[in-house]
Formats: sequence, C-alpha cells, structure tokens
Amino acid sequence: MKILVVGSGGREHAIAWRLRQDAEGHALFCAPGNVGTAAVATNLPLKADDTAGIVAWAKAERPDLVVVGPEAPLVAGLVDALSAAGIAAFGPVAAGARIEGSKRFAKEVMDAAGVPTGKAETFTDAAKAKAALPSFGLPVVIKADGLAAGKGVVVAETLAQAEQAIDDMLVGNRFGAAGAEVLVEEFLHGEECSILAVVDGERAVLLPSSQDHKRVFDGDRGPNTGGMGAYSPAPVVTDSMLPGIRDRIILPVLRELKRRGIVYRGVLYAGLMVNNANSNPRGPLAKSGSEVNVVEFNARFGDPETEAVLPRLGGSFAQLLLNAASGSLSEADLVVKDDVAATVIVASGGYPGDYEKGKEISGLAAASADAIVFHCGTKEADGRTLTSGGRVLSVTGLGATLREAVDRAYARIAGISFDKMFFRRDIAHRAFERESARQ
Ligand code: AMP
Ligand code: GLY
Repeated sequence: MKILVVGSGGREHAIAWRLRQDAEGHALFCAPGNVGTAAVATNLPLKADDTAGIVAWAKAERPDLVVVGPEAPLVAGLVDALSAAGIAAFGPVAAGARIEGSKRFAKEVMDAAGVPTGKAETFTDAAKAKAALPSFGLPVVIKADGLAAGKGVVVAETLAQAEQAIDDMLVGNRFGAAGAEVLVEEFLHGEECSILAVVDGERAVLLPSSQDHKRVFDGDRGPNTGGMGAYSPAPVVTDSMLPGIRDRIILPVLRELKRRGIVYRGVLYAGLMVNNANSNPRGPLAKSGSEVNVVEFNARFGDPETEAVLPRLGGSFAQLLLNAASGSLSEADLVVKDDVAATVIVASGGYPGDYEKGKEISGLAAASADAIVFHCGTKEADGRTLTSGGRVLSVTGLGATLREAVDRAYARIAGISFDKMFFRRDIAHRAFERESARQ
C-alpha cells in the first residue's frame, strides 16, 4: 500500500515504524515526519496543519491511506477534506474530533449515551461557577472546555485553589477562547489507564491496554506533562473488564455520534479511571455508581501510549487502519503478540516549562534488538542529531515480562546522552507495586 502518515512526533514515528514492520512492504511517506521517520519513510516538506498542501499531494499521488496522528489537523478538518477528494483517511472528521476539542461536547455525548463519567456542570460566569463548588466537595476538578495543550485541567484540593482556577480561566482569560467556558467536575478516585479503540463508525477493536505517567517527576510528583512514559498491558485493566469497556463506553459513544450524523472512524482514545479491588489507589465510588469512569476522550492515538502499544501488534497494521477508515473493521484484524512493552520518555531539562534546544545527542546509532528509539523532538544539522523539543526521545523496551521490558528500555537509555537530559526512573511503578503487594 501507499500510505501517508501526518505528524512529526514520537507517535508518528511509532506509526510509521509499525507500518514498516508489515509483511507487505508499503511505500511510506510522512508529512512532515522527523529525523526518526526518515529512516523508515520518505519525509515530505508539508506541515501537519497544511491542509491544502496535504490534500494537493494526496490528489496527485493517490495514496491508499492517509493516517492522521495529531489532534489539530483532525479538529481543523483534514479528514473531511481528504474524504471529499476520495482519499481514504484514518481519523475522525472534524465534527467527531470535537470529542477531544470540547470537553463540554464530550460530556453531552456521554450523558446522552449513558456512559459513566464524572458529574460536571459548564459555566461561562465565574460567580455562578464558584457558587456551584460546594455541591462538588473536595477535591474538585476545574477544566477549560477547549484544547489547552494539556494544561487546562486543575485538580483543586481546596476551595481557594478551585476559585483561583475559575478566575484564571474565566476572568484572567488564561487559555483564551479554549477557557471561555469551564467545567466544574467531580473528582474521580482510582487508577488511570488508556484504552485506544480502533473504530469504523459502528464497530470497535480495543488495542491492548496501557498506562501513561503524566507527572514530570518520579513518584508522580510535579506538574503534568504530555506523558513521561507508558507500559502495556496495564494490569489495572483485567481481560474481564474489556467487553464492558467496549459495550458500555466505546460503542454507545459511536452510536450517539451516529445519531447526531457523525460517522466516527479512527481512534477513540478513552482515558479511564478504574476504582475497584484491583486499582491502586482506591477511593469512594463515583456518583455514576460505576467502577470505571471516563476521564477524557481523545480523537487520536495517545503519545507516549502508541510507542508502547504498537510494537506489541502483529498482523497487518495497515489493513487494520484501512478497514477502520473504510468501515469494514473486524476482530480478526487485531493480532497481539505476547511481548510486554515499556516506554520511557527522554526529555530536556526544564520540560514541561522552558527548556533549551539544539543539544547534540550521542549514542543514537547503537544497535539494539530489544529496544526501539523513537524520535519525538529532534532535528538534524551537519550530520549531527540535536534536541529540538521538550520530549526528545521515546525509548521502548520489549520483553517476556514487564521487568525485562523496563530494564531493556533503561539499558538503551544508558547509552544515550545530551546536556540536561532527564527521564523518569520509575516507569511502570504501579504495576510493580501491585506485584510486590501480592507476594
Ligand atoms: P484530562 O486533560 O481531562 O485528561 O485531565 C488531565 C489529568 O487530570 C487526567 O489525566 C487526570 O489525571 C486528571 N483528572 C482530570 N479529570 C479528573 C477527574 N474528574 N478526577 C480525577 N482526576 C482527573
Ligand atoms: N498521553 C496522553 C495523550 O496522548 O493525550
């Protein structure tokens, strides 16, 4: 197949890398791609937000499939434009991507579909939002409605923090239009996990579970980031939970969207809070009465979850994505290998705040059979590879056990260095704590 991958991060490197593993031997292109994708595909000088340029390329080159990685081009309607040109595209239309682009819309869809989630109310007026706080108790969660680069969520421990967050968003205009509406939401207790469902508008195939690490420092301390590491599978999600997640969360959302005239194809990423005997921690049950609640939906593959999940997939990844894009998905499209995966993000000092760029990275060339180095924020200059982002590399170890996978990821990282490099040293700690608690 001839396939174009849109995007330039670790997620897109993992998508292109995994497509390259398919037995068919595809012709692969990335727009714009990165230093890592250049090794497995042909990078095109087209930015991910250049809808007109990407559509023009696709009309001329007639790829069998375009896979859209990031949310921004989805929200901007890239899939709508490609579909209008008769090009198969993996990813939801703009109306569907609103499930990520507007938290209020996501809540409306969930409420209409009867999907368990935190109870929430939406406000544009700060005084009314504050007046509602007592009915939510503490902690309470304040969220900007729109896309705020992962920074639009405040988990407030005190009333004063909650009021400050409301003022920042509604009065101080901290996130601009994205924060012109805020949600006040019930705090959900439990342990988070990510379920990436590949969907074709009606059917859903759940990829293996994973768990992200959102906080920047070991022990889940410090500010939230885009994600500092992931592993798959996440033992907090047992096999017996998967049919319920599909039938009570993913499929009802697809049906409700369809009822609204939206055929949602691509990835429906469910960020879930699990609060049961198997979760660490565990707390009071949510108002929904359910042990599994939706924290958020994303309209795309997660990053870094993708770097942990895709290396575990067997079979033809291109066929899975094409079948989703063309509305003919089946369970037979999913093949999961026995390997366990652990992904560690290597970041620039200062991230998620300010950080320096342009540091030379050494140790990338070393070959490793059981670890993969995905590029997130790098660039090439005079034959050297330099840092160009906060999240720089995403290193995935594979093994028969989680311990082996984690050790292999860290062993690979030990051979890599650049000025002010840092990474979390406790990826998969929840799974290990669960194991030691059982011994
Ligand atoms: P979101 O952008 O909605 O995924 O929120 C970012 C992070 O904030 C989530 O990954 C959770 O760790 C936390 N969070 C968001 N909503 C809630 C909630 N209702 N209860 C507890 N934690 C939450
Ligand atoms: N890792 C979280 C996300 O992709 O949104």
